[in-house]
Amino acid sequence: MLSYRHIYHAGNFADVFKHVVLTQLLRMLQRKTTPMCYLDTHGGAGRYDLMAAPATRNAEYTTGILRLWSAPEVPDMIADYLSVVRACNPDSVPDDSSTLQYYPGSPRIARTLLRPQDRMIVCELHPTDVQRLREEFQDDKQVAIHHQDGYQGLKAFLPPKEKRGLVLIDPPYELKDEFQRLYDHLATAVARWPTGCFALWYPILADYPITRLHQQLCDSGIRKIMLCELNITRTASERMTGSGMVLVNPPWQLDTQLNTVLPWLSRCLARDASGDWAVRWLVPE
Ligand SMILES: C[S@@+](CC[C@H](N)C(=O)[O-])C[C@H]1O[C@@H](n2cnc3c(N)ncnc32)[C@H](O)[C@@H]1O
Repeated sequence: MLSYRHIYHAGNFADVFKHVVLTQLLRMLQRKTTPMCYLDTHGGAGRYDLMAAPATRNAEYTTGILRLWSAPEVPDMIADYLSVVRACNPDSVPDDSSTLQYYPGSPRIARTLLRPQDRMIVCELHPTDVQRLREEFQDDKQVAIHHQDGYQGLKAFLPPKEKRGLVLIDPPYELKDEFQRLYDHLATAVARWPTGCFALWYPILADYPITRLHQQLCDSGIRKIMLCELNITRTASERMTGSGMVLVNPPWQLDTQLNTVLPWLSRCLARDASGDWAVRWLVPE
């Protein structure tokens, strides 16, 4: 049963972190002019109306994207990400937070950055969200939407004919065994496409030791695994205290870039003084 709907969380601190990293990954992969393929295994709806009732219920975006919207002197990487959010809000004014209405999901962010030679494949299981995706990218020849299990999509679409690209794996973590499923499917997908770049998002939960996933990855035999994390708090006042990304085969110097931007992002999004960030290699080359 699919009960998770991303609109309740759109634009929250975890989305901002994930999408800043996604923007940078795509930019770095596009340093080469040869075509690339972007595969989004859990696409969501593509774009979210922050004024719609589900988004305003907990208004999670107010402690996420809204904190960045009018921030003065943002680092270049953040400015780049914000320009993608602004492209989704053509009538918005940077200094006026009331003009932010839409938040782009990962497929919309990627599509904004795609070049004419690139293409994008998106899988989504929820019937309403897949319909939204189809409307969002109607008649777009560079985009293929599949009403399909994203993990099956890893088998169906990898390796891509372009031989270059990025896979984003961003499940809802509704099921108890999601961490294990995710690890199993990632290991199989990397075996199918050893040179592909994989980005896997995970929540840092007060009641789940994320070190379990880290250890499995260390023992997996997969090389070039980097982690980046952003914790908004270290106190267990909230169930999700932060989030992280596993990056397999990240582009050269991504670690340097993230080390530059995450301190700023952490200051901007932290709930209290215990908020922190990290970038480290779990398994080197
Ligand atoms: C966290 S949201 C994705 C958000 C999106 N990647 C973004 O950053 O904007 C997870 C999505 O996965 C969908 N989903 C759940 N199980 C799935 C599966 N097995 N395959 C594909 N999509 C799935 C949910 O309906 C939900 O829309």
